[in-house]
Amino acid sequence: MNLSADQTVEILRATGEPTRLRILSLLAAEELSVMELSRVLDQSQPRVSRHLKLMADAGLIERFPDGARVYYRLSHDAQARRLTDTVLDILADDEGEADHRRLEEVRSERAADAARYFEQVAPQWDQMRSLYVCETDVEKAVEQAAGPGPFDRVVDLGTGSGRMLTLLGKKAKMSVGLDLSQNMLNIARANVTKAGLDKVELRHGDIFSTRLPAESADLVIVHQVLHYLNDPVAAVSEAARLVAPGGRLLIVDFAPHNFEQLREEHQHRRLGFADEEIADWLEQSGLQAADPIILPPDREGLTVHIWTGIRAAEHVRKIA
Ligand SMILES: C[S@@+](CC[C@H](N)C(=O)[O-])C[C@H]1O[C@@H](n2cnc3c(N)ncnc32)[C@H](O)[C@@H]1O
Repeated sequence: MNLSADQTVEILRATGEPTRLRILSLLAAEELSVMELSRVLDQSQPRVSRHLKLMADAGLIERFPDGARVYYRLSHDAQARRLTDTVLDILADDEGEADHRRLEEVRSERAADAARYFEQVAPQWDQMRSLYVCETDVEKAVEQAAGPGPFDRVVDLGTGSGRMLTLLGKKAKMSVGLDLSQNMLNIARANVTKAGLDKVELRHGDIFSTRLPAESADLVIVHQVLHYLNDPVAAVSEAARLVAPGGRLLIVDFAPHNFEQLREEHQHRRLGFADEEIADWLEQSGLQAADPIILPPDREGLTVHIWTGIRAAEHVRKIA
């Protein structure tokens, strides 16, 4: 539905200021917290917050709390998005270049911290995983969500020590585990060998650009990885791209929570995900979102959900 004159003026006013244009351009790259925006723009948080409030009130951007932080992203509303895309399209290419360079620095620092963390925790990861939630319950539910198989090809993105591969690999003709951490991959290699699985390929790679062929796996898993990532929607889209017609993508992660210490001590970027948020991402990526499986909370109240996206069997592949 098109906007009224008042709404159009409000949205144009909310766009019509240099810092706000810079913010839109940054949010077009990824969702960002007030703290991150303030750092990239080199402006105080209250100042950035004022701009953000104005743009959120006009419907240009969406605000979502995540634990003690507040994140922003571009609005999903089609008209607001059309305006943002048009404005960003007519801006000269070099406008905002310095902002995007600083954003890249912030990203690289974050990625380096996370990489160091995973290299360090790799030897203890199998014990650490079970400290969070009841592994047996989660794994039973993952097997149920995956279906009985057999699978032609299972892809486990952010495989870590390879637990999902050892859980599901026996039902697969072949499986691929991908991870950025060499230490994790070494442990995964030892674990899959111990489990007697020989049709497993372990690859060093990035979830944002897996280099795996489109629609090549009947089961794709992203287990306890999404909350570490700076651009979870891009990771879901890449994971969905791999799903073959009739196949499924399982995302296993936490529901929204307030355990800020996971951010400070364990490199979590997002404190869980809402069901609607993941369902939107799955649908935007061309999959049908099934009802999530909700596991019982642990003693502390941390809850794991399993979200399933299904690619229709009759799907016709879009030519890029
Ligand atoms: C918490 S561990 C989970 C491992 C495994 N899925 C499990 O549940 O045991 C997260 C894993 O994601 C990997 N990871 C983080 N960012 C990644 C990225 N951009 N691409 C690929 N793997 C990544 C880390 O190296 C780590 O092994």
